[in-house]
Amino acid sequence: MYTTELQSAPGQKAGIPASAPEDPVKLAAFEARVAADEFIEPKDWMPEAYRRTLVRQISQHAHSEIVGMLPEGNWITRAPTLRRKAVLLAKVQDEGGHGLYLYSAAETLGASREEMIDALHSGRAKYSTIFNYPTLNWADIGAIGWLVDGAAIMNQVALQRTSYGPYARAMVRICKEESFHQRQGYELMLAMCNGTAEQKRMAQDALNRWWWPSLMMFGPRDDNSPNSAQSIRWRIKRETNDQLRQRFVDVTVPQAEYLGLTVPDPALKWNEARGHYDIGEIDWEEFYAVVRGEGMTSLERMKARRDAWDEGAWVRDAAQAHAEKRQRRAAA
Ligand SMILES: [Fe+2]
Ligand SMILES: [Fe+2]
Repeated sequence: MYTTELQSAPGQKAGIPASAPEDPVKLAAFEARVAADEFIEPKDWMPEAYRRTLVRQISQHAHSEIVGMLPEGNWITRAPTLRRKAVLLAKVQDEGGHGLYLYSAAETLGASREEMIDALHSGRAKYSTIFNYPTLNWADIGAIGWLVDGAAIMNQVALQRTSYGPYARAMVRICKEESFHQRQGYELMLAMCNGTAEQKRMAQDALNRWWWPSLMMFGPRDDNSPNSAQSIRWRIKRETNDQLRQRFVDVTVPQAEYLGLTVPDPALKWNEARGHYDIGEIDWEEFYAVVRGEGMTSLERMKARRDAWDEGAWVRDAAQAHAEKRQRRAAA
């Protein structure tokens, strides 16, 4: 799964946070390296605002992977066949792995795992709005793979060339797995659409509920995305929210047609002159409400994460005690 760098922390002003002026010589050298498409590595000099933007983006991305396990995990016990259960288990485990690579990538920038987790649990950190929608019928599992992981791929393919080396390298493996996630989702939708009338109705219902939230995953419109220009300049992002959203729409609409499903947007129309689909207006009020934590399942998601953290305390304590014992032995 994925989140774009779409939200500032609450109380923080929009835009790159102000920090002490950077050494102009170092800054110029840094910007020249970025412009030459070199990767920036953990021990390299970097502007403080670059570091902070990355910590925020990578940790939000990590949180999204971890919270993203919840809506689908909800269906593991109810998967209709052994094959579907095995596929879903593998997929949800992959998302957990993505979260771990990404927390590690953020740690290379000096952020600690504990701080990041605490920011999530206290509500200071954000994660992708998409995971605050409930999974109501089995076709939602197909729709999530097809649309949510599909939207994730649009973002993440570009992030394989993001300027920060550890983030870019984490993305290479994540993209391979997301591609499997998207395919299994589409294959599930295809099975539902070729099934009974009731199964097809469930597939349409899932598309109706997941279409607009998937488009919101790309974040605010470019004219309302204050951090975008700086992120593009520093090649943290390679393409804008609107460019990525358009590409997703252009790829996904023909896939919906192949399934025999109707995209729930009466304004959706191929624009011959632009060579792209035009879409109706996204409900940005809904988007910002979900960002503020007013999503349908926001409280439930956070409670699940906090409970998992508390219930895992004995594992962390045991691992810590074991590590200390080994250290003592090595010293003796
Ligand atoms: Fe995924
Ligand atoms: Fe993922």
